[in-house]
Amino acid sequence: MDERPKILAVDDAPDNLVLLDRLLKRQGFDVIKAASGRECLAKSASEPADLIILDVAMPEMSGFETLKHLKENELTKDIPVIILTANSKDAKSIEEGFSLGADEYLTKPIDQDELIARVRSILRIVKVEREMEQLKSDFQSMLVHDLRSPLSVIIGVLELGASGEFDNNPVEMKEFLSSALETSQKMLGLINDILDVAKLEAGKLQLNKQPNDVNLIVAAAVARLRVLYREKGITLDVETDKDLPICECDDGKIDQVVTNLLSNALKFTPKEGRVTIRTYSKSFGDKEPLLKGQFIALDVEDTGVGITADEVPLIFDRYRQAKNAKGSSQKGTGLGLTIVKRVVEAHGGRVFVESVLGKGTKFTVVIPAGDKD
Ligand SMILES: Nc1ncnc2c1ncn2[C@@H]1O[C@H](COP(=O)(O)OP(=O)(O)O)[C@@H](O)[C@H]1O
Ligand SMILES: [Mg+2]
Repeated sequence: MDERPKILAVDDAPDNLVLLDRLLKRQGFDVIKAASGRECLAKSASEPADLIILDVAMPEMSGFETLKHLKENELTKDIPVIILTANSKDAKSIEEGFSLGADEYLTKPIDQDELIARVRSILRIVKVEREMEQLKSDFQSMLVHDLRSPLSVIIGVLELGASGEFDNNPVEMKEFLSSALETSQKMLGLINDILDVAKLEAGKLQLNKQPNDVNLIVAAAVARLRVLYREKGITLDVETDKDLPICECDDGKIDQVVTNLLSNALKFTPKEGRVTIRTYSKSFGDKEPLLKGQFIALDVEDTGVGITADEVPLIFDRYRQAKNAKGSSQKGTGLGLTIVKRVVEAHGGRVFVESVLGKGTKFTVVIPAGDKD
């Protein structure tokens, strides 16, 4: 969408059209005027608008008829439409407008503040929807690339083996096979993430809850990732609470949470940084009525690049990566935190983030201790 959104205003009454024009221009919008349904159809097809404000009661071609034509035309069917109806009590025509595909309605006489508020909110929604579409298509092409390139590595190794290349060189064969194995495991991980997100979103995740010691889950994940931390030169501190209560949880899923948070901390912390993973018990008291009882808390705190305040609420969206991920050597998928959040919430818990750009980030996960059911 351009800097200045373009709004097509359609009304047969010249006074109204002038009023709309003035109001919208004053708010910084570009305005195209049309005095009839036909003019609206012609102009919307030749000059793309971001939004149409359409009067319903017009002679010759009514607003509804115009709306129908707009929705039938490939070029105009996705332009959001606000209809202007004469009578606020006229529920039937409002309903008809919605069933024909209108996005909003306003009643005459026009309330200026309301008009502007509706226009802005629709434009905002459209913008977010477009961004999501863009993200999805970026993600799909990335996915195809991310699955294709490791697969060609694996095929390459298999081809060499099949052609007898390693027949007299078991050492080299082992090397090649290990790299193919590692690549396959990464691929499997990516595919599992995608499937997990799909399941979590369909609400089909089966939690296999059992009494668990979260400290043990943390210790296992740390043991697995330690070598990567050492390779990058980042200190990993583990501070576990010896008296941590037992937790009813799915250990495999909580392991995924811990692993994702630790991998992110590693990825977004420069060399010589420090990451601390900490467990403790926590209760929220009366301030948080939704978080009653005793919780197991887990912090993963890093001295990394941090996240801007306006991006913090977005990083849990699927496929979403903050600006700090651009140009990062390890490409991610933007699925890790989506999984973290969904898994934690499926356990009745929450995820909190505190981040300061250039200083570091702290993720805190809390899950209910014991079984509350
Ligand atoms: N510890 C962290 N420090 C800074 N940014 C982070 C951290 N963890 C996550 N992020 C940001 O959140 C985004 C989403 O994380 P995630 O869902 O795990 O995706 P991915 O790791 O595949 O990029 C990351 O791309 C990054 O921008
Ligand atoms: Mg990640």
